[in-house]
Amino acid sequence: MSTATQRERRFVSPDPAATTALGAALGAVACPADIVCLWGDLGAGKTHLAKAFGAALGVRETITSPSFILMAEYRGRMPLFHIDLYRLVDATDALAGGLIDDRQVEGVTLVEWPERLGSALPAARLDVIIDGSGDDPRTLTLRSIGEGALRYLKVVP
Ligand SMILES: Nc1ncnc2c1ncn2[C@@H]1O[C@H](COP(=O)(O)OP(=O)(O)OP(=O)(O)O)[C@@H](O)[C@H]1O
Ligand SMILES: [Mg+2]
Repeated sequence: MSTATQRERRFVSPDPAATTALGAALGAVACPADIVCLWGDLGAGKTHLAKAFGAALGVRETITSPSFILMAEYRGRMPLFHIDLYRLVDATDALAGGLIDDRQVEGVTLVEWPERLGSALPAARLDVIIDGSGDDPRTLTLRSIGEGALRYLKVVP
């Protein structure tokens, strides 16, 4: 296997339960300071994945879409920060100082609509790119940007 292949894994999800299973597997290996960017159109399944990820992290509260509050914090075996940038047309300026503050390095951060970050997109992260919508199957491409997120690729079924 080439290095390039090892940095990327693909997972076909025929139904919501399969995406739940993937999210649970990813949440189980989360470490403090991880950043997971969830890419995909409206209704692709970003929040659906975030809910399963959080449940595997031990979050008992219901994870909802944090659209109106930008970032929600949940308590699990480590803090979970759930960010949704959909309503920010361009977050580059607002977040140029860094998406991650001192608190967030102690937990794992999930970002919906990471394209809004522009040049403020963190250099080290896991990208989860979700293709598909409606009742169609989803194709999820997981890509480790930097070495830190390779751990996630190993648990993709
Ligand atoms: N294979 C699948 N994986 C994930 N979700 C699926 C799948 N098939 C159907 N769905 C449905 O797609 C919807 C995804 O909604 P979700 O809120 O997670 O999307 P989103 O990507 O967060 O959208 P938004 O950009 O509006 O935040 C859910 O209703 C879910 O049940
Ligand atoms: Mg969402």
